[in-house]
Amino acid sequence: MEYTYLGNTGLEVSRLCLGCMNFGSEQPWMVHDHDEALDVIETALDHGITFFDTANVYSNGESEEILGTALAERDRSELVVATKVYFPMHDGPNGQGLSRKHVLDQAQASLDRLDTDYIDLYQIHRWDEHTPIEETLSALDSLIEEGVVRYVGASSMSAWKLMMALHEAEVNNYERFVSMQCEYNLVDRHEEANVLPLCADQDIGVIPWSPLAGGFLAGKYERGKDPEDGRAVTDEFMEKRFTDENWDVLDVVRELAEAKDATPAQVSLAWLLHKDLVDAPLIGPRTTEHLEDNVGAIEVELTDDEIERLEAPISPVWNPAIGDVE
Ligand SMILES: NC(=O)c1ccc[n+]([C@@H]2O[C@H](COP(=O)([O-])OP(=O)(O)OC[C@H]3O[C@@H](n4cnc5c(N)ncnc54)[C@H](OP(=O)(O)O)[C@@H]3O)[C@@H](O)[C@H]2O)c1
Repeated sequence: MEYTYLGNTGLEVSRLCLGCMNFGSEQPWMVHDHDEALDVIETALDHGITFFDTANVYSNGESEEILGTALAERDRSELVVATKVYFPMHDGPNGQGLSRKHVLDQAQASLDRLDTDYIDLYQIHRWDEHTPIEETLSALDSLIEEGVVRYVGASSMSAWKLMMALHEAEVNNYERFVSMQCEYNLVDRHEEANVLPLCADQDIGVIPWSPLAGGFLAGKYERGKDPEDGRAVTDEFMEKRFTDENWDVLDVVRELAEAKDATPAQVSLAWLLHKDLVDAPLIGPRTTEHLEDNVGAIEVELTDDEIERLEAPISPVWNPAIGDVE
């Protein structure tokens, strides 16, 4: 495994972060069997992956519990555990969002489920229109003061909102967000026209989510054919990816994969790993085989010409209606 520093911090993370959204029973396409999920996490650890991402909302806490079980006997000092807050955890008042109350309550609940004394990276999962960002930053700051959170990060939002948060942190002397977790892969490149230039300018670490576009870039679906298995059978969100320009990208991915004796998933992950501003893609393997394959991406080299060919079919556009909403 290779390691890097997260953004401009001194925090060392593996170049692949294991995303744990797949572990739990909220959706039919997830890994419902805890032993199978634990096998994937165990295999990741065996490969030297030390960076793990989850969220309170993933299967309503189940993903955090599985991760906590997997890491319980491990040397915590090497591991970087990231989780998130914002989405609804219960009905009724104060069940969601980024108010001081919800953030502090959920941080404690995440610590309990993760069975740990501290969260390395605590991220706001989305922007909360109902809470002033100063209130959220001050609540996050108090968690750092308390020693239960080490760094704070953000996820998917318009660049101007992230810039506003960085400004508020600076003028109020609160900890600033050190990382941005955003959707970024060969067929979802809208963040190149939104938050990524800001992250480069402000030295914010970039940890892309859905690096294989939920499996589309693994080459498991065929142009013009209904999906027969995989996430797309039950996840309607996947259908937005079946566009002509995305199939054109996949054609190039497949061609390069064949030439390099690699898999389409490896070429797609390698493209992200070749981007200077990307610290660690959040991989989402469902099986140990997926994980072994994803790890192999680190060895795949791409030339500038190949990168240009992979990017040619799409011209990134930022559309807040897609990128800035839940
Ligand atoms: N901040 C946010 O709002 C946000 C949103 C989404 C995700 N995330 C984070 O990003 C992580 C990854 O997201 P993701 O699961 O969508 O990642 P992804 O890598 O884009 O998709 C994962 C899916 O790709 C397929 N796959 C992976 N490796 C494969 C291989 N070698 N061969 C064939 N298929 C393969 C599997 O699909 P099948 O299951 O169909 O086989 C797997 O479930 C999450 O766990 C979470 O931590 C964050």
